[in-house]
Amino acid sequence: MKNKPYVLLSCAMSIDGKIATYTGDTEFSDGEDWKLVHKLRTEYDAIMVGKNTILKDDPKLHIKFYEPTKLIRVIVDSSFSIPLTSKVLSYKLETYPTIIAITDHALKPKMEKAKLRNIRFINTGSGKQVNLKKLMEELYKHGIKKILLEGGGSLNWSMIKNCLVDEIRIFIAPIIVGGKNAVSLVDGLGVKRIVEGFKFNLQNVLKRDNYVVLHYLKA
Ligand SMILES: NC(=O)c1ccc[n+]([C@@H]2O[C@H](COP(=O)([O-])OP(=O)(O)OC[C@H]3O[C@@H](n4cnc5c(N)ncnc54)[C@H](OP(=O)(O)O)[C@@H]3O)[C@@H](O)[C@H]2O)c1
Repeated sequence: MKNKPYVLLSCAMSIDGKIATYTGDTEFSDGEDWKLVHKLRTEYDAIMVGKNTILKDDPKLHIKFYEPTKLIRVIVDSSFSIPLTSKVLSYKLETYPTIIAITDHALKPKMEKAKLRNIRFINTGSGKQVNLKKLMEELYKHGIKKILLEGGGSLNWSMIKNCLVDEIRIFIAPIIVGGKNAVSLVDGLGVKRIVEGFKFNLQNVLKRDNYVVLHYLKA
C-alpha cells in the first residue's frame, strides 16, 4: 500500500509473549527501557493504541524524560466508547492532539462534546470496526508519516493482518506470567497454518543484563 505512514510496533512483553497479565498488569519494562520508549515517542509523528488499552490503563500517551515534541495520539475506537474523563481526551491537548478513529456507529452527542475540546475524528465508514487501511490513508493526508503502534494485542493483529506494520521492536522481560486470558503481543483470530503467517526479518538483537530487545523489519 502506497501513501501510508511508516509503522513501528513497539511493546514490552514476558518470555511467554504476554503484554499484560490476566488482571491487566503491564509493568514489563525496566526504567531504562521505559526511557527508550519515551525517546522513541520523540521521533514519531503519532502514537496509536486500541480503545481497550485506554479503558484498562488510562495512559496519557505523552513524552517524559525528554523535551516534549508534538505527538498526535490516535485512538482506534469504532463507537467512541472511551469515557470523556480519559486522560487522552484532556491531558495537554495542545502538545498531544488527539484523533479518534471511528465508524458510522459512533455516538454523535458525545462526539460534539469532545469536539468542543478540539478532539478530532476520522470516520472510516459503515464497517463494524475501524477500517485501518482507510485510517492509514487519512492519517497520511493529515501529514502523519511515522506512527508508533503501542498495542494492544487485538489492534496489533489487525494492523499486521492488513500488512500495515513495517517494523517491530520487542522488549522481553525475563519473566513468565502465563494465563490463557492474558493479552498476547498479537491476538485476534490468527492464521490457520504457519505458511500463512506474516513474515519479518530479524535486524538486531540487543542484550542488556537479563533483558533482550529484538528488532524486526517486514520481509
Ligand atoms: N505491554 C505493552 O507493551 C502493552 C502495550 C499496549 C497495551 N497493552 C495491554 O493490552 C491490553 C489491551 O489489549 P486488547 O487486545 O484487549 O485491546 P486493544 O488492542 O487495546 O483494543 C482493541 C479494541 O480496539 C477497537 N478496534 C476498532 N477497530 C479495530 C480494528 N480494526 N482492529 C482491532 N481493534 C479495533 C475494538 O473495539 P471496538 O470494536 O469497540 O471499536 C477492539 O476491541 C491492555 O491490558 C493493555 O494494558 C500492553
